[in-house]
This record gives sequence, C-alpha cells and structure tokens, in this order.
Amino acid sequence: MNRKDLLGLSELSAGEIDEILTLGLTMKDRLRKNQKTLTDLKGKSVTTLFYENSTRTRCSFELAAKYLGAHVVNISAAASSVTKGETLIDTGKTLDAMKNDFIIIRHPMGGAPKLLAKTVKAHVVSAGDGMNEHPTQALLDMLTMREHFGKISGLKVAILGDIRHSRVAKSNLYGLKKMGAEVTVFAPRTLMPAGLDKMGAKVCRSREEAVEDADAVMGLRIQLERQKGGNFPSLGEYAEFYGVNEEIMKHAKKNAIVMHPGPVNRGVELTCGLIDGDVSRIEDQVLSGVAIRMAVLKLLTEKNQ
Ligand code: CP
Repeated sequence: MNRKDLLGLSELSAGEIDEILTLGLTMKDRLRKNQKTLTDLKGKSVTTLFYENSTRTRCSFELAAKYLGAHVVNISAAASSVTKGETLIDTGKTLDAMKNDFIIIRHPMGGAPKLLAKTVKAHVVSAGDGMNEHPTQALLDMLTMREHFGKISGLKVAILGDIRHSRVAKSNLYGLKKMGAEVTVFAPRTLMPAGLDKMGAKVCRSREEAVEDADAVMGLRIQLERQKGGNFPSLGEYAEFYGVNEEIMKHAKKNAIVMHPGPVNRGVELTCGLIDGDVSRIEDQVLSGVAIRMAVLKLLTEKNQ
C-alpha cells in the first residue's frame, strides 16, 4: 500500500485490500495472545479528530496506536478550538506544526478527510465522512468474514437497513465487489439510494430475496441523525417489515453469520436473539476493528519511511 492516506475503499485496489487484511489477521492473532506492547509505531504521534460521536472507531484507533507504541492525543470537536471558529485546515496545520504523524478524522461532511489530506503533511485516515465512506469499518467486516469463512471471493453478503445514509454500506460494497463477493441489498424504498446496481449490488424487492442463500447477513443502523423522519412509520413497524429476525435468517445458508457495524438499535435492525446468539459475529467484528486499524497504521508508516 504505497500511499500517504487512507480515505476510502473506492480508491484501493484488490491487492491493497488483500495486503491490509493479511496483516490484519496477523494483528488479530497477536491481540488474542495479548501482545499489546509492540513497537511498530514507536516515536510516532497519532491524533484522533472526531467531529461526530463514536465508541468503537475512536477507541479502537486509540488502542491500536497505543498497542503499536505510538503517542496518542484525542480531540473531540466540541472541546476544541473548532467551537471558536477554527477551520478544519487550520486545525490540521496546527497539528502538523506539533510534529504529529497521523490524523484519524471523523466528520459529518463527505469529503472532509480528502480536503484535510491535501493540506497536511500527516497521514490522514478517514474514520467515516458523512454519507460517503467508512473504509476501516468495511475492512474490519471483511477481515471478520475472511477469518470465519477462510475467503471472501464467492461469498454472498446481504446488506439490509438504512443504506441511503450509510457510509458502511458504500465502503463494504466497494470492498466486497473488488474482493469477488456477491452483494445483495434491501431497504425500505425511502432508504435505498439510486445507482447501487451500477456499483455492482443486486437490489432486492424483499428481505427474503436479499437473504436467500446468503453466507453473511449484515444489518445496518437506522441513521436517525442524518434524516428528518418520515421514511418509515415507526420503529416497531420497521422491525416487523424490514428488520432481520430468526424467520428471515431461515432463507440464508445453514451456517450463515449475522453482522452489524454497531451501535445497534436492539430489536429494530436485528432481534436480540440474533444479536446475542451463536450466529452473531458482532463482538468478533469489534476485535477485528482493533486489528485492522493496527494493520492500516503500520502499513501507512512503513511505506512512507
Ligand atoms: N461502527 C461504528 O463506526 O461505530 P462508532 O460510531 O461507535 O464508532
């Protein structure tokens, strides 16, 4: 991966994704052996710059950087000079002046990481930008599938939920198609964007059609913060007519797994039985998240020394 920044999976080749996943598997092994005092990022500084809330992504980037031996600083926009009117570019230049090496940015505006990457010396890694992409989420999802099934090519992955507002769905679609998986999607019409078929997804008219013979079924969070409402009558009706439940899972392959990027609205996108049951890989996705972020940080550092 010979690049300064990681901004989205649309710009990565299958070879680059494979390189990240291969190193991610090694990192996951190390985490399972409790190896948390590595030195790959010794002497480097990593700043997380989050303009939106996060639990998984921010914590896992922080832990990934610390496990690799880096210094870590966390900035949330609400507690920074952004509230005094400082621009994104000036914030980046300020961090550059402090000899910071990485900026991990989450921003409500699609394209903000790219704008920052053009103007700072530090490596920029997108931790999710608006409705555009969430590249490390898709990488950790693919790592989870690759470890579970031993491959990605040939898998059938069904993605159900609020696809219109989902950066996770878009990054997964880019990544999974490049790695040779088949992707089906289903959402209420109000939450289905145009053009997914042109991106290689099979757009389905029912949950049953989307999940038929799937190896992995991914529920997506309803992004209430990105919509004014009116896209479905109530959360209860959403769960009944669009959610993933045990009956719907009968259409998937016998050994199919259930995934969700989190945070999950319990009983809405997935039933509690599925979230907490044997088919769920949700906790494993969280471990994959630390591993994949370790892999991304290490590869960006190595290729630019
Ligand atoms: N999946 C995900 O991005 O979760 P957080 O919002 O908690 O980071």
